[in-house]
Amino acid sequence: MESNNLHQITDNIELYIGNALNMNIEKKVNMIYFDPPFNSNRDYKLNSTNSLGFSDKWTDKEYEEFISTNIDKLYDILEKDGTLFFHISSSCMYIPERILRNKFKFVEPIFWKKCRSKNNVKKKLGSVMDIIWKCNKISKSKFNLVTQAKDKKYLENSFKNKDDVGNYAMGHLVTEKTKKGYMYEVDIGDRKFNPPSGWRIKEEVLKDLIQKNRVHLPKKKNANLYKKIYLHENPGKPCTDLWDDIHSISQGSEIRKYPTAKPVKLLERLIKISTNENDCVYDPMCGSGTTADACHRLNRRCILNDSNEDVVSIIENRIN
Ligand SMILES: C[S@@+](CC[C@H](N)C(=O)[O-])C[C@H]1O[C@@H](n2cnc3c(N)ncnc32)[C@H](O)[C@@H]1O
Repeated sequence: MESNNLHQITDNIELYIGNALNMNIEKKVNMIYFDPPFNSNRDYKLNSTNSLGFSDKWTDKEYEEFISTNIDKLYDILEKDGTLFFHISSSCMYIPERILRNKFKFVEPIFWKKCRSKNNVKKKLGSVMDIIWKCNKISKSKFNLVTQAKDKKYLENSFKNKDDVGNYAMGHLVTEKTKKGYMYEVDIGDRKFNPPSGWRIKEEVLKDLIQKNRVHLPKKKNANLYKKIYLHENPGKPCTDLWDDIHSISQGSEIRKYPTAKPVKLLERLIKISTNENDCVYDPMCGSGTTADACHRLNRRCILNDSNEDVVSIIENRIN
C-alpha cells in the first residue's frame, strides 16, 4: 500500500505526492529516471513573480545522506535487468558518483551537452554538461540500440559520391596494412584487385556486393575498392555516450513549465534505450512530469512521485 497521496492521471500514469522515501511500490519497475535536486545551493523558482519551485540548499553531509537513502530504496524497486538513470550537473557529480559506484556493478556516464555556450559567465568556465549515470545490476540488462542524427558536416563531406541509386559514402573493404585479412583476388571487367593485406570480408560477400553494383570502382589504377554506403539507408549513427543533439528547454522550442524541467526528447531517448512498450518507468522526483509525457508518447506505464503538491495541476494539464 502506498502511503503517499495518489492522483490517477490516466490509466497508465499514477502520480503520488509526498517524500520519495515513503513510496511503497510492490511490483518491480523496468526503468527509473532519478533527477533529484543537484546540491546547487540555490532556491529554484519558475520566475521572480511565480512561487512554483523548490529549495536545493544542503550541507554535503545532508546531501550524501539524502541521495544514499534514496538510492538504496530505488535499487530494491528496480528489476534485475532494469536501468536506473541518475541525472546530475557535471559540477555536482562527485557525491552521487561515489554512492552509485558503491551500489551498482555497472555505472556508465552519458554526457549531455545541454547548451552550446554560457554567455553570462565571466569569471569561470561555462558549464554546458550534465551527466546522466546509466546504472545496471547485471551486464546483460535490457538495452535497445537507438540512433542519433549524423553530424551535418560529416554528411556534407562524406556522401559526395553519387550513382543512379543515390548519394553514398565509402566504406573500407581492404584490411589495414598492419593486419591480415581474407586473401583472394577479384576481377571486375579486365581489372584485377588483390590487396597485399587482404580484404575485410569473405570472397562470396564481396562478389555479391560487386554483382549488386554496391562497390565503388576507383578511376586511379592502383587505388582500393570501397563499399558504397547509401545516405538514404543510413539516416542515423548508433547512439554514442555524447548527446549533443538535444537542446535544453531554454534553447529549444519547448515551453518551460517548471524550474529545472528537462526536455521531453531527452526522456524519450532514455526510455527507448532501456524499455519496451508496456514496461513500467518510475520517476521518484518527477517535477513537471517530463517522464510521464515521454511515457505517454511511447506507450509505457509510468509511476511518478514528487513532494511538491504544485506539480499535480502542471502534470494534469500537460498529459490531458
Ligand atoms: C530537478 S527537479 C525534477 C525536474 C523534472 N525532471 C522535470 O523534468 O520537470 C527535482 C524535484 O525533486 C522534488 N523533490 C525534492 N525532494 C524530494 C523528496 N524528498 N521526495 C520527492 N520529491 C522531492 C522537487 O520538488 C523537484 O520537483
